[in-house]
Amino acid sequence: MSGADQGDPAVILEDRPIPRHIAIIMDGNGRWAKQRGKPRHFGHREGVKSVRRVVEGCRILGVEVLTLFAFSSENWKRPQQEVGVLMDLFMSALRKEVKRLDRNNVSLRVVGERGGFSEKLQRQIGDAERATAGNDGMVLQVAANYGGRWDIAEAARKLARRAAAGELSPEAIDEQAVNDNLSSPDLPDPDLFIRTGGELRISNFLLWQCAYSELYFTPMLWPDFDEEALHRAIADFQQRQRRFGKTGEQVEGGSASTPAQG
Ligand code: IPE
Ligand code: IPE
Ligand code: MG
Repeated sequence: MSGADQGDPAVILEDRPIPRHIAIIMDGNGRWAKQRGKPRHFGHREGVKSVRRVVEGCRILGVEVLTLFAFSSENWKRPQQEVGVLMDLFMSALRKEVKRLDRNNVSLRVVGERGGFSEKLQRQIGDAERATAGNDGMVLQVAANYGGRWDIAEAARKLARRAAAGELSPEAIDEQAVNDNLSSPDLPDPDLFIRTGGELRISNFLLWQCAYSELYFTPMLWPDFDEEALHRAIADFQQRQRRFGKTGEQVEGGSASTPAQG
């Protein structure tokens, strides 16, 4: 489905860069459960194990930021019972995983409109973030009640407020200003965007931030995604030539392959 053949061994090259930031749409839990004749929540529960494996795999490789799409702004449209299961799972994962994350020097951040969650869940999110805030090993960013359009609209609103208050001239609103008002301006843009589950779409994930990400789609369902699959995606990424608008010859000539912004 992408450049890498499912059968190929995953060979990560030491002389090629590891993505600094990997963003993943963890899709396919429902189908994974259905294939086994089980209810959808069975797949969501199994998916938590993949999260653990991928966090650990990224940490070991020295990835700086891992962003996981856990719940989209649109996922509220699912049956109430499934939304309830997803909220409960989020809550229990926060409670159970924080110690492990802390031990592994991972700092947890949640991005999205958290006002949409119950007070209890909001408290749990705040507690987990505070407990791991001092860690500098890897940032695990969980996108929950997140939408790329929401993120951009929020940035526009913040800028408009400042403009209306006379603190900011409309002429000063450039790409950098928008970027600085998104939900996590301090993190680099994703280098590698992975979607499991076979769908070839972005589903309102990090729209602005993925402007120049390398896209990797795999038919593998999220509960099957393991360290080997992660390595395969990274090995595929390492074979790409990131041009950022330049020519291949310019890039081969040694000019930096980092984006102008991010
Ligand atoms: C992804 O798996 C998990 C969430 C969206 C929360 P799905 O639940 O979308 O699984 P499929 O796509 O129905 O198989
Ligand atoms: C995207 O998956 C959101 C998450 C993985 C959290 P969906 O399963 O909701 O995406 P669509 O609706 O099929 O595009
Ligand atoms: Mg899905």
